[in-house]
Amino acid sequence: MNVLLIGSGGREHALAWKLSKSTLLDELYVTPGNPGTVRHGRNVQLDLGDQKAVRNFILEKKIRMVVVGPEAPLVDGLHDRIAADPKLAGVTVIGPKAEGARLEGSKEFAKEFMLRHNIPTAAFRVFGKGQLKEAVAYLDLLGNGPYVIKADGLAQGKGVVIAQGRKEAEQALKEMLGGRFGAASERVVIEQFLKGIELSAFLVTDGNSFKMLPAAKDYKRIGDGDTGPNTGGMGAVSPAPFADRDFMQKVHDRVAAPTIRGLKADGIPYQGFLFMGLMNVNGEPYVIEYNVRLGDPETQAILPRLQSDLMDLFEGIASGTLSERHVDTDDRTCVTVVMASEGYPGEYGTGKPIEGIEAVLNAYVFQAGTAENDQGELVTNGGRVLAVSGFGKDVEQAVANTYRNVVMIDFEGRTVRTDIGKDLVKSQAPKNVTTSA
Ligand code: AMP
Ligand code: GLY
Repeated sequence: MNVLLIGSGGREHALAWKLSKSTLLDELYVTPGNPGTVRHGRNVQLDLGDQKAVRNFILEKKIRMVVVGPEAPLVDGLHDRIAADPKLAGVTVIGPKAEGARLEGSKEFAKEFMLRHNIPTAAFRVFGKGQLKEAVAYLDLLGNGPYVIKADGLAQGKGVVIAQGRKEAEQALKEMLGGRFGAASERVVIEQFLKGIELSAFLVTDGNSFKMLPAAKDYKRIGDGDTGPNTGGMGAVSPAPFADRDFMQKVHDRVAAPTIRGLKADGIPYQGFLFMGLMNVNGEPYVIEYNVRLGDPETQAILPRLQSDLMDLFEGIASGTLSERHVDTDDRTCVTVVMASEGYPGEYGTGKPIEGIEAVLNAYVFQAGTAENDQGELVTNGGRVLAVSGFGKDVEQAVANTYRNVVMIDFEGRTVRTDIGKDLVKSQAPKNVTTSA
């Protein structure tokens, strides 16, 4: 089967790598791709908003499956346009139609959905333009804070404010309802603050049945010890020891199953990946957000652990027989460390030569913000430049293996967290400690 993969990040490099291992794959095309995806397929330039160009490409290359990495094309209706095109009958899209993509595209929609289907999530209220007074009054009801304030729509990961104090919360409300993120913040969600550990859980579904994929812990802040501004994610660990069998069973029963049932009950067709952003509050899962795609960099930690053929799961989606397929997982731990440009997530320079990738041993390098310059050298071309993923029999060994490889790779301004996974290493209880008097 010929496949078109959409996206250009580390997640898509990992997807291209994993798909390329399948005997069910013939040709893989990636748009726009990056220098990493070239190893596993052909990069092509395609304007996804131009349906005629998309149709011609799919027909000319005999593509039977379109795998969508990021959320934007889904929220934008790419799946709907392909499905509505009579010339493209029989082409499967991995990723939901626009209506299902609202689970990520609209926080209000997602919260109402969870409320309707009894899926555990933080208490909330939604306020629109002209309701600043009511919104501020709701803060009183929530007590001392911290306060969680979210723009309803997609705001490039910047639409969530966790305000420690009342003043900061009011300021955020004023800015958002005042149009800070345009249409995306015309409505805002204010919700209860949840205290716990976050986990990214994933499933694939054909709309009827679903299969859980490995879960991962993401490290969102730029600095060691979870300090500094939020990023797209600076590292990931899969599995996370705190997400034990008991907790994952709760995620399956109380979040995943009612979500897929709820979509069906609401008449919303959904196929592809679902990312459940969870908070583990004293052992109970609460949904913080849904994403209609895989995570980045979580994908770079979970796909190496997936032993099953990803194309086989996708074919299960295409034929509505996912329930008959299997997800087999490597028991080992995979640790992913992102290498970023100096200044990220703020402004950063590009074009810095990247050295040392060839010295990496027993680990994967997934490229993201990279490019080839005129001399054919690999150079930096984005905030998150690449990710290194290594295995170990436990977190401690995986951390050691990954960092041993991270230090091999160098570029000017290379910015790396040095503590990925280290919080999850079982603290070595001191044995036979003797205190001398
Ligand atoms: P979101 O874009 O909804 O994932 O929110 C971004 C980040 O804000 C999350 O990854 C959490 O760290 C934090 N966050 C979101 N909602 C809550 C909440 N209700 N309580 C505590 N932290 C939250
Ligand atoms: N790493 C979080 C995300 O992909 O949204």
